[in-house]
Amino acid sequence: MTQSKIAVVGAGTMGAGIASVFAALGWQVALYSRSQTTLDTARTIVEAGAGNAAAHVLYTTSLQACLENADVVSENLAENPELKKTVLREVEQQVPPACLLSTNTSSVPITQLATALRCPQRLIGIHWFNPPQVMPLVEIVLGEATADDVVAQAQALAKAAGKASIIVRQDCPGFVVNRLQYAMLREALFLVEQGVASMADVDLAVESTLAPRWSACGPLRLMDMAGLDTVKNVSAILMPALSNATDIPALVTQRVAEGALGTKTGRGFYPWTEESAASARSRRDQMVTHARKVASHD
Ligand SMILES: NC(=O)c1ccc[n+]([C@@H]2O[C@H](COP(=O)([O-])OP(=O)(O)OC[C@H]3O[C@@H](n4cnc5c(N)ncnc54)[C@H](O)[C@@H]3O)[C@@H](O)[C@H]2O)c1
Repeated sequence: MTQSKIAVVGAGTMGAGIASVFAALGWQVALYSRSQTTLDTARTIVEAGAGNAAAHVLYTTSLQACLENADVVSENLAENPELKKTVLREVEQQVPPACLLSTNTSSVPITQLATALRCPQRLIGIHWFNPPQVMPLVEIVLGEATADDVVAQAQALAKAAGKASIIVRQDCPGFVVNRLQYAMLREALFLVEQGVASMADVDLAVESTLAPRWSACGPLRLMDMAGLDTVKNVSAILMPALSNATDIPALVTQRVAEGALGTKTGRGFYPWTEESAASARSRRDQMVTHARKVASHD
């Protein structure tokens, strides 16, 4: 896909990041939010990520102005199915038939959102990761009706953005990455709850063992390297011992009830200051960038 116009609908964390990616590539970018304050914050993020190219971005509280002549739409509104459906319906009416319609939903089935459209085959999930400027992959999620040429367009878009992509063929909650991630988060909370290890030690264990190894080989390759006979023997003992809880983890619910939401409120599982949160984000981005550099020299 050559340089085109992308309309980014929703200017929060993800919308601003995606706008920044395409602005840096020299695309025409229009960013919509209903709130001027959100747009002002987004402008700071885009300027930090895209440098001089950010000067050409249109920041607008008019959905119509955002969508004008768009070749691609990336919907990044809050994770509320009814809100997304209402806005996607409007988007479909305002963009040309060839425009690629994508949503960045993390959990709502594409098939469900597509019911809002006259042509459900036009909608596809392009699921980015935070921060989009740094993370090297997107998940391309097919709804039941998504057309083959729309999948090809989404793959071309990912490539143009310099991202690898995986195809999620079945529209299941959490797609691939969040399913894997939440399986791990559930077990991490279970270990803490059961008193097996402290929060800090669980974090250190992952940061020092699983995380770096996983950046070199994914779980299936990893099992081959461990030996499937060993995996079989360990599974016999371990599988029945792992958490299979289906409720929202109590450690999370309690903190949310107390307003302890993490870095954004100054307290979550750990206490945070603005400085320590910024330093944690910067360390995360540096580590991801470093891992990508190493991988590209393999
Ligand atoms: N944050 C992440 O790590 C992440 C990663 C991948 C995908 N996503 C998905 O991306 C989407 C956006 O997430 P985010 O983290 O950027 O959220 P956010 O809260 O930072 O931004 C949401 C945007 O929606 C707008 N909005 C909220 N209610 C609205 C309404 N009633 N009418 C019009 N606009 C409204 C807000 O003004 C804001 O621009 C969600 O679907 C989320 O699941 C998030």
